[in-house]
Amino acid sequence: MQSLVFFTLIAVAVAQNATQPPRPPAPRREQFRVIYEWNAIDFQWDSPEDREAYLNTSRYIPRNVLISGINFYGENLYLTLPRMLEGVPATLATIPVQQVDTAPKLKPFPSWSANTIGDCAALQFVQNVEIDRNGIMWILDNGRIGTLTQKPDTKCPPSIVLIDLKTGKNEMERIPLTADTVNTATSYLNDLVVDNRDGDYAYITDNSAVDPGIIVFRRSDKKSWKIRDSKSMLSVPEAAIFRINGTTINLPVNIDGIALGPQFLTEKGDVDRTVYYTPLSSFHLYAVNASILRNESLSSKGDGALRPYVVDLGTKPSQTDGMKMDSTGTLFFGLIGNSTIAEWNTTLDFGVGQRTIARDPNYIQWVDRFTFDDSGNIYVVVNRLYNFIKNQVSLDEVNYRILKSHTGTKSYIYSPDVTPVTPTPPGASGAAAVGASLLLLAFAHLLA
Ligand SMILES: *[C@@H]1O[C@H](CO)[C@@H](O)[C@H](O)[C@H]1NC(C)=O
Ligand SMILES: *[C@@H]1O[C@H](CO)[C@@H](O)[C@H](O)[C@H]1NC(C)=O
Ligand SMILES: *[C@@H]1O[C@H](CO)[C@@H](O)[C@H](O)[C@H]1NC(C)=O
Ligand SMILES: *[C@@H]1O[C@H](CO)[C@@H](O)[C@H](O)[C@H]1NC(C)=O
Ligand SMILES: *[C@@H]1O[C@H](CO)[C@@H](O)[C@H](O)[C@H]1NC(C)=O
Ligand SMILES: *[C@@H]1O[C@H](CO)[C@@H](O)[C@H](O)[C@H]1NC(C)=O
Ligand SMILES: *[C@@H]1O[C@H](CO)[C@@H](O)[C@H](O)[C@H]1NC(C)=O
Repeated sequence: MQSLVFFTLIAVAVAQNATQPPRPPAPRREQFRVIYEWNAIDFQWDSPEDREAYLNTSRYIPRNVLISGINFYGENLYLTLPRMLEGVPATLATIPVQQVDTAPKLKPFPSWSANTIGDCAALQFVQNVEIDRNGIMWILDNGRIGTLTQKPDTKCPPSIVLIDLKTGKNEMERIPLTADTVNTATSYLNDLVVDNRDGDYAYITDNSAVDPGIIVFRRSDKKSWKIRDSKSMLSVPEAAIFRINGTTINLPVNIDGIALGPQFLTEKGDVDRTVYYTPLSSFHLYAVNASILRNESLSSKGDGALRPYVVDLGTKPSQTDGMKMDSTGTLFFGLIGNSTIAEWNTTLDFGVGQRTIARDPNYIQWVDRFTFDDSGNIYVVVNRLYNFIKNQVSLDEVNYRILKSHTGTKSYIYSPDVTPVTPTPPGASGAAAVGASLLLLAFAHLLA
């Protein structure tokens, strides 16, 4: 028998301001529902003795296991469990997307052994993963564990780990990032978007306190470089204080959430996309074109080289951790200090186009990451990160929730391909070109 909470609807408050000029009617959003919730995270152990042995030796400390990232493929939701504290037995795990239980036990992915601490063929510290449209899972493995302890421990080099989920074999290809891109002691590979074009790129936020930036990784030749801009990528003091659920926390964190817009055609006829990002401790949303990040020469030019290409889109009412773009160019994001989930149709000006789609001080306590499934649903991880960081997690309360709503759209990874017009490929599709020029107009409006 399912508990009542499964039918709890999250209050919806649609922000409307009658004095503003009329804008296109926004789609009505279905309310968010709680589909899973846990006081503490537990696992599918090989045997009850295993669980006991892990508990006895502090290799499993239930209150130290936090869900952070979420992704979807096939029958499963993939959850990340960053090893910020000791006692996190696995850093990547799955639960079924079809609800079987209110608090399902997590199944380590790809396996228990592939989550062994200190084995550099295994996963060490995963904050986020992305699954591209070819069924490739891109895993960010920081290699360093215990990031919230006195003594963070670099076990393995910061790496991208790829798994081709289509084969069902779950073989891991580990690609360590090079020293000019990452520092084993300070890098913090936080989040990523994947751009399946011209060799497949990942744009990765590194919220290192020492050297934050966007790491660009090209899968075809495994090359990576880092693009820096202190003005848009650093935390700012006025946004470092978070007030949520009666708790105040000072958390100066650099560039964190990242999202990728649909393809569009430039004036020159090339295909481009907009990369959106925000430091956790910031009220601003920034945009830069992917073609700029893909220009490796900007990485060696130092701070300031990116500045002319970064657009400050304006402010949000509060700070944002994760963000997710859908296939139609609508961005979903949390507003932490407002217990809110918001959306923005990126064809509208950011200043007037933001809408609150859910607000609830009890159920929306720190929105971390989002994902879409393949049937038009969006999922959100809410994890009370402030309690975890302040070491005030109580196992008598619900600490982790997954909320779900129907949008009728999919992830940005499925947004349509646009055909470049130069040089004119034989038999280029006129329909694609028309679609592209509409998109271009839309972007011109956005940046006007
Ligand atoms: C509506 O927008 C106007 C101008 O943008 C602003 O002055 C006013 O305070 C807003 N009202 C509300 C209720 O948000
Ligand atoms: C976004 O706004 C554009 C108009 O600027 C509109 O055509 C489109 O339908 C909107 N998208 C959604 C999902 O509402
Ligand atoms: C765990 O510790 C208890 C108490 O010390 C002991 O009785 C038990 O045998 C241990 N279990 C395992 C699997 O090590
Ligand atoms: C991206 O490129 C387009 C076309 O060249 C340009 O109009 C737009 O301003 C650029 N966007 C940003 C965020 O710089
Ligand atoms: C890359 O950026 C440099 C400036 O750092 C510029 O001279 C060059 O034209 C750019 N290359 C491309 C392909 O845009
Ligand atoms: C939203 O949160 C910010 C702090 O992050 C706060 O200053 C602001 O008053 C809140 N706005 C509303 C409408 O709750
Ligand atoms: C914090 O959240 C819990 C759970 O929703 C609620 O019971 C409690 O009243 C909240 N405390 C404050 C100070 O808002």
